Amino acid sequence: MNAFSSLLRPALFCIDPETAHGLSLKALSSGLLPRVRPDRDPRLARRLMGLDFPNPLGLAAGLDKNGEVADPLLGLGFGFVEIGTVTPRPQAGNPKPRLFRLVRDGAVINRLGFNNKGHAAALERLRARQGRGGIVGVNIGANKDSPDRIADYVAAIRAFSGLASYFTVNVSSPNTPGLRDLQGRAALDELLARVVEARDSEARRVPLVIKIAPDMDEHGRADIAEVVLARGIDGVIISNTTVSRPPLIETGFAKETGGLSGRPLFRMSTIALAQFRRMVGPDLPLIGAGGVDSAETAFAKIAAGADLVQFYTGLVYGGPGLVGEILTGLSRILDRRGLASIADAVGLETDKWARETP
Ligand SMILES: Cc1cc2nc3c(=O)[nH]c(=O)nc-3n(C[C@H](O)[C@H](O)[C@H](O)COP(=O)(O)O)c2cc1C
Repeated sequence: MNAFSSLLRPALFCIDPETAHGLSLKALSSGLLPRVRPDRDPRLARRLMGLDFPNPLGLAAGLDKNGEVADPLLGLGFGFVEIGTVTPRPQAGNPKPRLFRLVRDGAVINRLGFNNKGHAAALERLRARQGRGGIVGVNIGANKDSPDRIADYVAAIRAFSGLASYFTVNVSSPNTPGLRDLQGRAALDELLARVVEARDSEARRVPLVIKIAPDMDEHGRADIAEVVLARGIDGVIISNTTVSRPPLIETGFAKETGGLSGRPLFRMSTIALAQFRRMVGPDLPLIGAGGVDSAETAFAKIAAGADLVQFYTGLVYGGPGLVGEILTGLSRILDRRGLASIADAVGLETDKWARETP
């Protein structure tokens, strides 16, 4: 047991989840957390979408909604950090309580609803860190009351093109009513056409990835795969949180509305990832997210077909030291399996995962 799980976690878990989240951000920005940047293992590096990832382990969107702590997070060892979701105008999100810990499940339910300080605030933070290096993606969304949601995504492309390492077009948050409708074939095609057009008109060509939900059948996924390939999107994140409720130990909060993340999401999101990999073939970069909390679960995502992996809820339960632990563990798995690099592990078990049922 490390210092986080024996001391800090019990203290943090005594207070309500959003206050604990705020305190964690303060600790990160104050530099109180030691920089634990683990030794770099060149076997974990990947070059994808024109970017050099020092390792495949990224922070998923939602922790650093306003880009306030990207550098301290990179300092924990993450190969890339995704900020946001940002919307053009600041918004408060849903009424509290809106964040629930399901401790025995290693899970979280959230219905935050894109609480964030808006484009201008995030832009200021990213400008302040310009030139520091590190891969920082910007996850973009639409204001809840926007009269033209596609225009909100386009506005983000225009605003952040000089600063974002990549964009994530988030069409999969369950907490903005109607947002997930943008995953439908016709709506997605129109959205991506306009977003790609905006991206291509900027001086810098910033890679575009889209982030999808785990809650759709194979037909829905096949439609997305076709549109993504036709529009030349650079990558796909699978997945966001689920609105379904797999069997849970903690029944108290299970009925709360919102997206479920963490351990109970692992299996369904990994199956969705493998099925998507089979649909798009070996070349499109895929980022696996959902329930990663160890080197084994990170490796399983990669074997299922992910080039890169992201996690968030695992950090709530495992603490900042988990990043280094997963990276060390991945290097050990390469040794054990006799693999020359992490790239060689991608898709080793896609067929096995794709045959499973959630
Ligand atoms: C509290 C919380 C807030 C989140 N906010 C966002 C968000 O703003 N945008 C987004 O695309 N995903 C958001 N997510 C989803 C995560 O980025 C991730 O896709 C999902 O939680 C699955 O990964 P995990 O099981 O490792 O947490 C959020 C997740 C949590 C737990």
